[in-house]
Amino acid sequence: MKLAVPKESHPQETRVAISPETAKKFRALNLEVAVERGAGGRAGFADAAYEGAGVRLADDGASLLAEADLVLKVRAPDPGELSAMQRGAALVGMLSPYGGREAVEAYAAAGVDAFAMELVPRISRAQSMDVLSSQSNLSGYKAVIDAAAEFARAMPMMMTAAGTIPPARVFVLGAGVAGLQAVATARRLGAIVSATDVRPAVKEQVESLGASFVMVESEETQAAETAGGYAREMSEDYRRRQAELVADHLAKQDIVVTTALIPGRPAPVLITAGMVESMKPGSIIVDLAVEQGGNCPLARPGEIVEHHGVRIVGHVNVPGRLPVDASALYARNLYNFVSPFVDGERGALAFDWDDELVTGTGLTRGGDVVHPSFRSTD
Ligand code: NAI
Repeated sequence: MKLAVPKESHPQETRVAISPETAKKFRALNLEVAVERGAGGRAGFADAAYEGAGVRLADDGASLLAEADLVLKVRAPDPGELSAMQRGAALVGMLSPYGGREAVEAYAAAGVDAFAMELVPRISRAQSMDVLSSQSNLSGYKAVIDAAAEFARAMPMMMTAAGTIPPARVFVLGAGVAGLQAVATARRLGAIVSATDVRPAVKEQVESLGASFVMVESEETQAAETAGGYAREMSEDYRRRQAELVADHLAKQDIVVTTALIPGRPAPVLITAGMVESMKPGSIIVDLAVEQGGNCPLARPGEIVEHHGVRIVGHVNVPGRLPVDASALYARNLYNFVSPFVDGERGALAFDWDDELVTGTGLTRGGDVVHPSFRSTD
């Protein structure tokens, strides 16, 4: 059985889907492992480190893909990569299935069994495979570091002979994995931190990190969390009340980090242009939802926009701004997902289609779209 990892083709992708550590573990399961030369270069993994782990280095990505039984990727393959893969091969990566049904149909047409790691069910057995958690955690940290770099003041309170510097006030919208790490990071830097969410369950988590929790309480919030742990889209009435609360609070903040997402839907708008205008000049907003439409409509993917003296940071691929840690964790997530289905004696891979991890993530099988969320209804 041959496992292949090509170099990521997207120009902004710095991460890689295998590390020397996980390559060695796959080798111990008797898989042949081939990696395209230079694939780990931006993630701090030299070709020699892969070779030391028993990996064969390939010069040509297309022929590497052509002979693979299993392809590990960070991002969805481009059409050229997909057409290079052989029918019957398995593809595992962050395939952004909600980005377009056509891509899912293209995997079926290519006869590739595609698994989207974003869809790993949020059950305790799957925590070590949860790519959204491993990557969002780093995003939350980096968002605060990016904000601190843009901020023209210090974060902690400093009492000096020349006078006192007040602590920065940081407000985090959306207290999931990224948001909680943003809260923790801002606290470590000495800021006064507050956070909000639509799921009341996170209040305790926010407070345990030394931050205050602000939220609109309503009957609706009791049902705001899905069985999978995600947020639902809220009613218009709730959104209006939330906007009033946020507007009041925002005017007193220095740094705002927004992380609110709803799976499969555009990100909710939480900070309008009017609210930005009410903020103090010199304040910073980091919008981690910018690639899903943004929690602030003024945010632009890949840009830092200034509006009424407020800087709105819209970095894309934020985990990729920490490519070494992001790749190491992502590679382990993939190993943890794939390895239970490898027969290490024979070096053979067989996904168990009775396992909810497989049916939860599997988009296509044997030329058909099989995932219930993407199957055609007609
Ligand atoms: P996410 O990335 O989908 O969303 C980020 C946050 O935004 C969430 O906390 C969500 O409630 C919040 N949000 C959505 N709409 C909002 C709005 N209109 N206003 C304010 N906030 C809004 O969520 P994430 O970070 O992936 O985590 C969701 C939950 O899943 C968490 O409770 C987390 O602890 C849980 N989880 C469970 C895992 C497991 O059991 N295997 C693994 C990872 C996370």
